[in-house]
Amino acid sequence: MLDLKNLSSEINLKIQQVKDRETLESLKTLYLGKKGIITEAFKSMGKIDADERKNFASELNIIKSNLLDQINSHQSKIELKEIEEKLNSEEIDITLPTKEIKKGKIHPVSQVIDELTCIFAEIGFSVAEGPDIENEFNNFTALNTPEHHPARDMHDTFYLDEDKKTLLRTHTSPVQIRTMLNNKPPIKIIAPGRTYRCDSDMTHTPMFHQLEGLYIGKDINMGHLKGCLDFFLKKFFEDENLEMRFRPSHFPFTEPSVEVDISYKLENNKIVVGKGDKWLEVLGCGMVHPNVLKNVKIDPKKFQGYAFGVGIDRLAMLKYGITDLRSFFEGDLRWSNHYGFDANDVPTNYRGLSK
Ligand code: PHE
Repeated sequence: MLDLKNLSSEINLKIQQVKDRETLESLKTLYLGKKGIITEAFKSMGKIDADERKNFASELNIIKSNLLDQINSHQSKIELKEIEEKLNSEEIDITLPTKEIKKGKIHPVSQVIDELTCIFAEIGFSVAEGPDIENEFNNFTALNTPEHHPARDMHDTFYLDEDKKTLLRTHTSPVQIRTMLNNKPPIKIIAPGRTYRCDSDMTHTPMFHQLEGLYIGKDINMGHLKGCLDFFLKKFFEDENLEMRFRPSHFPFTEPSVEVDISYKLENNKIVVGKGDKWLEVLGCGMVHPNVLKNVKIDPKKFQGYAFGVGIDRLAMLKYGITDLRSFFEGDLRWSNHYGFDANDVPTNYRGLSK
């Protein structure tokens, strides 16, 4: 029969020698494993006389639970020690200066979109969106530009199928249609986004950006349109004395239609927007054509409104003195670092748009 007193003191001695995970594990196997000393002792209890068996069993149980307690407490001590050692060896000094971090820049187009959103939000416009891939109805037909209308050819459209039913939108005006089909007047939105035309030179790229504006309500007139554009242009170019003029023009979806010019002068061969003796075209606009309203089931006798379309890239070029439009889309890091904006300088109306 196993001498339990001996066993107990032997365990106490061995437990004191435990230093790490391995010695603890082997101690566990030695006593409590499948063939461990304590396990075997339990198995062989049948051979012990009945009157001694009870005592033996309860003592063995005490030894076993003591051993388990000791093992557990050693285990947590060892784990703590391991964490401490790890922390000591992996020391990080957070007071040291960082290595050079390469910061990204905000593209001038994104910057200008943020600036425009800020300006128009101040006078009650919310932002609407539409997809780059459009159908010919939204891009042309609903905008009072039926098939065989000469304006369709003028747009140098990228068609996506032979039937000319799907296309890359040639302007942001289809967002007018989508918005009016899904909302009831009053409607007051701007829609910035990508637009596409098959064209490429110093001032044209096959993909460019426009910002559409649309205000439909009761008794809206050209005076409201002019006031809105005057506010926007002065805010955007951060010049209260900026001059603008309306020049008669034509768009199928507006009547009357005008183009807007702003004044500028040349200083050392550079365009300086503001006061000057020259005029520069910046946007197209007009009163939404009654046919367009009918196409989206709005009664033109009850509601009127204005729409405008601005080239965002062109605004960015003028404001930030960038001369070649194609450079916008070349992805040259040196260009981005030079013309880009800091990600933390979010434009706001009160703190300044671009400073
Ligand atoms: N969609 C026109 C263009 O791309 C601009 C425009 C928009 C004109 C809204 C009038 C009204 O040239």
